[in-house]
This record gives sequence, structure tokens and C-alpha cells, in this order.
Amino acid sequence: MPGRQLLMSFPVTATSHALADYRARGGYATLEKALASMTPQQITAEVTASGLLGHGGAAFAVGRKWSVIRLNDGQPHYLCANADEGEPGTFKDRWILENAPHLLIESMLIASYALQVRNAFVYIRGEFDLPFRRIQGAVDEAYAAGLLGERVLGRDFACDIIVYRGAGSYVCGEASGLITSIEGKRGYPRNRPPRLTVRGLYQRPTVINNVESLANITGIVRDGAEAFRKVGTAKSPGTQLISISGHIAKPGVYEVEYGYPFAKFIHEDCGGVLGGRKLKTIIPGGISTKVLTAAEIEPLKLDHASLAAAGSSMGSGGMIVIAEGTCMVRLLQVLLRFYHHESCGQCTPCREGMGWMHRIIDRIVGGEGRPEDIERLYEISHANDGTTICGMGDAAGYATVGILNKFRDEFEYFIEHKRSRLGGNLEVLPNA
Ligand SMILES: Cc1cc2nc3c(=O)[nH]c(=O)nc-3n(C[C@H](O)[C@H](O)[C@H](O)COP(=O)(O)O)c2cc1C
Ligand code: SF4
Repeated sequence: MPGRQLLMSFPVTATSHALADYRARGGYATLEKALASMTPQQITAEVTASGLLGHGGAAFAVGRKWSVIRLNDGQPHYLCANADEGEPGTFKDRWILENAPHLLIESMLIASYALQVRNAFVYIRGEFDLPFRRIQGAVDEAYAAGLLGERVLGRDFACDIIVYRGAGSYVCGEASGLITSIEGKRGYPRNRPPRLTVRGLYQRPTVINNVESLANITGIVRDGAEAFRKVGTAKSPGTQLISISGHIAKPGVYEVEYGYPFAKFIHEDCGGVLGGRKLKTIIPGGISTKVLTAAEIEPLKLDHASLAAAGSSMGSGGMIVIAEGTCMVRLLQVLLRFYHHESCGQCTPCREGMGWMHRIIDRIVGGEGRPEDIERLYEISHANDGTTICGMGDAAGYATVGILNKFRDEFEYFIEHKRSRLGGNLEVLPNA
């Protein structure tokens, strides 16, 4: 495993999800320290100084988001841990929920103290079974041990954590969709402004952070911002959990220090491409990030600046490895089917655009493609860019443009010959 141990020295064992195990390794001592010796402002200042970037996809600075919350403003504030994890290829938050739920709870308690939150939520997708049982079990244990409720650790600090199960909609992972879902309405994303930190859940100031972002808080408060910044790069401090799948010999969840060599990670740490095949391309951070070819990843480092310079992004850390022999036309068909299915339908460019792109790609794969279809896919992708309520419209466009830019010849061949250039091989990510 490259870099440091998972989540700043959190070795996983068969019992690492249990309170007794967590306490035996110093768990909840940081909460104790925060409540006893730090003000809320000091905690936010430490998180800001750490430079921690959000792990939900947009890499927004966590301290900057927290700083918008005005303390003592007489309003209830809310905190939501985003455990929806709907981005295809991403399964790292699930790893935290299953193996280190108390790390998330301790971090949420510290965050709640810093942000003056009385009620915090874990919004978890409905399909998650073991992760739900683990986080709910840990919350129950925490209540029984006096770590949650009216007097946390016997102090003058009250906090409840409510685990809220979603119904498996991709857009409910988008922060405003998540909020409307918790409010009991259809999980429609909503326009900003106002920002959610100003008017969020129940119209009150709300911080929404990804599970992994929050899980870092305990380590930052325990060891200090300076220690946190010693790992990673100046612009991307700390580490990133990467869930890697597809044509890879050793799929799973890895923690990498930002700045770690991309190619080394794939070829050495993850055992290289499955079955010794040649690497064709990689989706680096969930399907909404642009693909990178085998040649492109060679000089890259795994950090935000490096991937941005290559025209892509770390996204949600959901890496999908694609070997030579995979048909990119079929791959795009799978992605567009997903986006079309998940569009909530509020915005015309997304609702109509997703259906249109899906019909075009189905037509191409069905041997009925037209020469103008490629330009049409570009046009629809660009029409979505920045014209929709939430980022899903843009995301589908990025994915499409990324694949078309690099594998246009495969689309042209498919349209002209009514079959894949790969000799009719239409496989998409088989097991071997
Ligand atoms: C369509 C869509 C789906 C999203 N799904 C998730 C998700 O499952 N988990 C997540 O943490 N963020 C997701 N996000 C990003 C959230 O809107 C939000 O930026 C994030 O939870 C903030 O946390 P962070 O600042 O800690 O990264 C999604 C965004 C979009 C546009
Ligand atoms: S962009 Fe798509 S998913 Fe997002 S709000 Fe608009 S229609 Fe819904």
C-alpha cells in the first residue's frame, strides 16, 4: 500500500468498527481534548490551516466552507455527512462506514462543536446494507456510552446524529438534492444562491461534507494542521482514498499520499492490468471525470493540480481501469444510459439532452449511426455546460467529450462499418 496507513494510521481489523476497539486505540480522546481545551473558532482555524480539501468531488476547501457559518447567530445549524456515494466506480466512503464508523462519529462531533450544530445527519444511500448497519450500530453504541445526546462526555455540549437512508438516487448525493431528500421531499437539487451554508436544511445554515472529508477532522485536531500538511503536496495536503476497479489485478480501496506517482500506483501497488493486458485508458475519479490514456498517466502525480493540468480531475477517487480490447463506444453507451436514468428531469438541457445522447449512442451501437452523430454528441454536451441546476448536466458532458476527444476514431469506425473496430468485441469491463 502506497503512502501512509489508511486515514492517518487507522489499521483495519475485524473489530475496528466496534467502540471498544476504537477506544483502545485512543478513540474519542481527540473529542475530549477539543471540548476541554479548544474553542469552536480554534477548531475551524486548525481545519482551515490544514488546507484539507473536500473529497466529494469538487475539492472545495473544508475550512473555507466552515468559515461561512456565523456562530452565535441565534439559528440552528446543521451538519450532514454525505454518504450517498453514488458516483459509479466510487466505493471508498463505504470502506470508512464499514471499518471506521466511530472515526466518522468522533469527527462529526468535533465538527458539530466547531459549527454549533445540535442535530447532525449521516445521509446514506438505501442500497448500502453493511455500511448502514455498521454506522447505525456505532451511533447506538455512542449513545449508550454517553458520547451522543444531551451531555456529550458529561460536558455542556449536546449533539444528536441521525442516520437517514436515501432511496438510491444519484442526484440525492448532490448537496441540495440531499437536503430536500432529508426534508422528506423529492430529492430535487436546487439553484444557488443562496448557498447552503446560508440557507440549507430547513432553511438554516448547513454544512455538507463528504464522509472522507469529515473522517480527516479527528486526525487534524489530534495532530495539528502542521502535521497534516507534512503529507501530500503544498496545494493538495494529506491523502486520498482511491477505490480502484475494472481491469486491475488488485482492485480495492487504497490510501495514497497526494503527489504519489500515478503509473507506479497502477503498475506496482495495484498489480497492473488484469491478466497482463495492455492499459488502454483510465477514468481517474468517478465516471464524471475525463478519461486519461495510458501514455498520459505516465508523467502524472496523483494530486489535484497534476490531474487538472492533464485536463481531468481526482473527482471522488473512483478509478476505473480499462484494458486494450474494450470498446469505447459501448463504454460510453453504458455511461449515457446511467446519466439518462438518473436525470431528475428539472432542467430541460439535462432532461432532454440525456435522453437524446442516449438515443444517439444506442443508434450507433445498433448499427444505425449517422456521420453527424459525433458532432451532435459534442453539441449536446456543450449545451449542458453551466446551464443546469446541478453539476450532473456538466458531468455527463465532460465524460462524453473526454471519450470522444481521445477515441473519436472508434466512433467513426463504428458508424461507418456498423460494428466495433475491435472485431465485434463489445465487452465492457469483463472479469478477466
Ligand atoms: C450529481 C451529483 C452527485 C453527487 N454525489 C455525491 C456523493 O455521492 N457523495 C459526495 O460526497 N458528494 C457528492 N456530490 C458532491 C456534493 O454536491 C458536495 O459537493 C459534497 O458532498 C461536498 O462535500 P466535500 O466538500 O466534503 O467534498 C455530488 C454532486 C453531484 C453534482
Ligand atoms: S442537471 Fe439534471 S439532475 Fe441536475 S437538477 Fe437539472 S435535471 Fe436534475
